[in-house]
Amino acid sequence: MADTDRQVIVVADPVEMARAAAERIMARIDGNEGRIALCLSGGSSPKQLYRLLASDVYRRRIPWHRVHWFIGDERFVPEESPLNNMGEARRIFLDQWAPASNVHAVPTFAPDPDDSAERYARALKSFHGADAFGPDRPLFDLVLMGAGPDGHTASLFPGDPALDESERWVVGVPRAHVEPFVPRVTLTLPTLGSCREMLFEVAGSEKRAILTRLFNGENLPANRARSIGGQTVWLIDHAARPESFRGQ
Ligand code: 6PG
Repeated sequence: MADTDRQVIVVADPVEMARAAAERIMARIDGNEGRIALCLSGGSSPKQLYRLLASDVYRRRIPWHRVHWFIGDERFVPEESPLNNMGEARRIFLDQWAPASNVHAVPTFAPDPDDSAERYARALKSFHGADAFGPDRPLFDLVLMGAGPDGHTASLFPGDPALDESERWVVGVPRAHVEPFVPRVTLTLPTLGSCREMLFEVAGSEKRAILTRLFNGENLPANRARSIGGQTVWLIDHAARPESFRGQ
């Protein structure tokens, strides 16, 4: 898997990673005078970033009325559950600062993940104002991503047929390969890739093994996720950096 279009930035630790991610988000916001679409990620890695965005320094810089918040994948649990990705982002910062109508959560009250996925796809298409995306008009300004210990990203797991989905924007995932073992709803690779910037955050020594595999070019979901026509940036911290990696 060619990764020449991936830029890797090594930072000291998770604190510096959150700051670097926040600055990249601000650069995307500042570069767009109109409506901004940011797609958040789940898991534990982005929580520090979310706390930072809620801090005085950043929340004053964010034009909240024109920023719309989406989520790249969701655990199929009620929004009040601590496992719900958008629920966590809301509790940490969105409920405090973002207009409710700018927060676009996956409807986990739907009868099942497939139905929920269809509803979210409709919401995305209506927001985008089109049923298709082109590199000249990406869906998102920035998509935040993480990488799991098995190389998954969003809720796209190794070997899952959802990885090859080219038509549907969002799909239901009946079984997660890692904890929490709840069904998921995930944006597909073309949808996630329709962005000006895809930004990965990967930190901690427990991620070193999978980063080694990913940077060796293994055909894993996190290696297949990239911005189509924009920038793909990986923020990794010192603890996660593979020994063989001499980039920075
Ligand atoms: C989720 C995710 C998932 C996550 C990675 C990394 O719902 O769990 O969106 O893809 O981003 O597993 O998670 P950590 O940041 O917790 O390592």
